[in-house]
Amino acid sequence: MKILLLGSGGREHALAWKIAQSPKVEKLYIAPGNAGTALVGENLPIKATDFEALKAFALNEKIDMIVVGPEDPLVKGIYNYFSSQPETCHIPVIGPTKEGATLEGSKDFAKAFMQRHNIPTARYKSITKDNLEEGLAFLEELEAPYVLKADGLCAGKGVLILPSLEEAKKELKEMLSGMFGDASATVVIEEFLDGIECSVFVLSDGKNYKVLPVAKDYKRIGEGDKGLNTGGMGSVTPVPFADEEFMEKVRTRIIEPTVNGLRAENIGYKGFIFLGLIKVKGEPMVIEYNVRMGDPETESVMLRIKSDLVDLLEGVAKGNLDTKTLELDPRTAACVMMVSGGYPEHYEKGYEITGLDEAAATDSIVFHAGTTMKDGKVVTDGGRVIAISSYGDTKEEALAKSYKVAEMIKFDKKNYRRDIGFDL
Ligand code: AMP
Ligand code: GLY
Repeated sequence: MKILLLGSGGREHALAWKIAQSPKVEKLYIAPGNAGTALVGENLPIKATDFEALKAFALNEKIDMIVVGPEDPLVKGIYNYFSSQPETCHIPVIGPTKEGATLEGSKDFAKAFMQRHNIPTARYKSITKDNLEEGLAFLEELEAPYVLKADGLCAGKGVLILPSLEEAKKELKEMLSGMFGDASATVVIEEFLDGIECSVFVLSDGKNYKVLPVAKDYKRIGEGDKGLNTGGMGSVTPVPFADEEFMEKVRTRIIEPTVNGLRAENIGYKGFIFLGLIKVKGEPMVIEYNVRMGDPETESVMLRIKSDLVDLLEGVAKGNLDTKTLELDPRTAACVMMVSGGYPEHYEKGYEITGLDEAAATDSIVFHAGTTMKDGKVVTDGGRVIAISSYGDTKEEALAKSYKVAEMIKFDKKNYRRDIGFDL
């Protein structure tokens, strides 16, 4: 098969690494990819949202499957773009329809979907300028802290958690006046949930589903989960508190109502469903849906999938995922993200990265997140630069291996958290 993978981060390098191991794959292209994906496939200078260029390439090269990494192309409707045209409808796109992607593209849509299907989630109200008074009254009903979410996509920055009623009211008005542009023209006000979070990944063909390894990610820049939010500073799988009893509740109360609900509402969904869950007094509740794999969760989750991912994806495309087997590696996998100094605020790019050959000789797996080639050298090209993933019989063992490699890899102003997995 010839596969075209879209995206350019650590998640995509991890997907590319796993896809390239499949004996079914004759050729793997990544658009646009990074310096790491170039080691397992061929990068293309095409943006993941340039549908016309992707179509031309896919037809020319006789691509058999398109796998979508990030949410952007999905929310913009890449599934519908390919499935609605006679020349391209034979090429399966792994990902939801545009409507399905609204589960991530609109918090208001996601909350209403959960309410329709009795899926446990925080109490909420959706507010626009027209019902501001209702929003202010709802805030008064709630207790601190207060959760305000921009309805639309904000690159992970659209959620405010505010300690006082006064601030919550002020920020609500500011969000509605365009703090996040159109994305906050509608704001979801939510009850605050107190618990521990995990990421559950489901692969669905629209009818059947498989639950991939559960992971925990570490979003804050500082140790002890302090400081600003980032794209993610590391991840660990499995998650001990997501035990069999908890996962049975997740399956019956969340996954099945989600898959069946999408089907009942005729919302096409053949792809990954990412459930951002929180365990509150033993019970799972949904914090958010994403319509793709998580980053940096993918960089540990892929290590624990023993089965051929491409075979599973074929099951997704053909609607016979129930005939496929998903075999998992019982070991722990952990990922440590090396970031540019200054990230998630201001940082510089273009620093040479050394030590990659030495790292490649270890049994850790180095995934590139934000890198590119310049004058024959690998240089930093983003806030998150390199994800180092390792296996271990325990999380301590896996993390110790990743930290050893984090010492070997060098670039100016590198930074990483030394406490990934601290709360497990
Ligand atoms: P989201 O973009 O919806 O995942 O929100 C970003 C982060 O805000 C989540 O990962 C949580 O840590 C936090 N968060 C969101 N909603 C809530 C809530 N209702 N209660 C507590 N924390 C929340
Ligand atoms: N790690 C969280 C995300 O990918 O959104």
